[in-house]
Amino acid sequence: MKSASDQQLWGSPTAVKFFSERRAGIEGLFRSESLFLNEVAPYVNNVLDVGCACGNFLNVFKTYNPIIRYTGMDLSRNMIEEARSRHPDTPFEVSDARMLRNSNRRYDLVFSSGLLVHCPDYSDVLRSLWSVASRYLLVDLPRISVDDRQIGSMDVELRYAAKAETSRTRGDVPYVLINATDLRNLTIDFLARRDIRGLALFAYDAFYHKQSIRLNVSKLITSCLLVVRGEGPSLYWVEAPSGVGSEFAATCEAFGSTRTDSIAEVLGKG
Ligand SMILES: C[S@@+](CC[C@H](N)C(=O)[O-])C[C@H]1O[C@@H](n2cnc3c(N)ncnc32)[C@H](O)[C@@H]1O
Repeated sequence: MKSASDQQLWGSPTAVKFFSERRAGIEGLFRSESLFLNEVAPYVNNVLDVGCACGNFLNVFKTYNPIIRYTGMDLSRNMIEEARSRHPDTPFEVSDARMLRNSNRRYDLVFSSGLLVHCPDYSDVLRSLWSVASRYLLVDLPRISVDDRQIGSMDVELRYAAKAETSRTRGDVPYVLINATDLRNLTIDFLARRDIRGLALFAYDAFYHKQSIRLNVSKLITSCLLVVRGEGPSLYWVEAPSGVGSEFAATCEAFGSTRTDSIAEVLGKG
């Protein structure tokens, strides 16, 4: 189980307030999220949102697919209490993503945003998420640097306090930056399995909140990875800054995966 202190930091009134107000509709999505959700969400019956905070993605998923069955999961009891009070008819659970490894439940889509970047053991967490995904896994990866990996930290209070508020620092959660080698290793972890129909990666340069996120880099790359379960031949799709995109493409091709220009084809819809 994750330490109580991360639960407490994520459950601070500042963070709960932030996530109850933000990301409540498709206009609040990152480019990578809207690109993939548009392709995937209309075609699934159910979704598990891991690290769901106050459950605002329920509305996002319902916009893409009004009959989708949504389940939210979060480490923080306070986030989940807020989620339950806002959406009393929707299942929400307090749990660590790592516990999914022991679960025999399955979801058409397992979705997670803003979680792996805070998990130094992100590859284990990724395996846990994949273990309950029957068709698709859609996640944002830890931030990527073409220079080097780092585990920095993020002050939750400073990150999520409104600009006008004088915030009180309570402590930091980890903030993970991976490099191209880490990206290759986590890609191989999927490609080495037999039941992968394809992978899609969309990555782009992002700015970060330097007041609250402690890292020694000027720039980093944010990304979304879609993993599709199924029979081969395996396909991949990528749009990413050159160092990252070429590494991803070379890794996929080394495993016999063929490039396609169509995300729909990776999904088996082409
Ligand atoms: C940055 S917020 C992202 C919230 C939401 N997914 C979004 O994108 O707007 C990270 C969320 O992940 C939750 N979280 C952190 N570690 C977790 C873990 N090990 N298992 C489940 N949830 C976790 C936190 O409580 C927090 O609500």
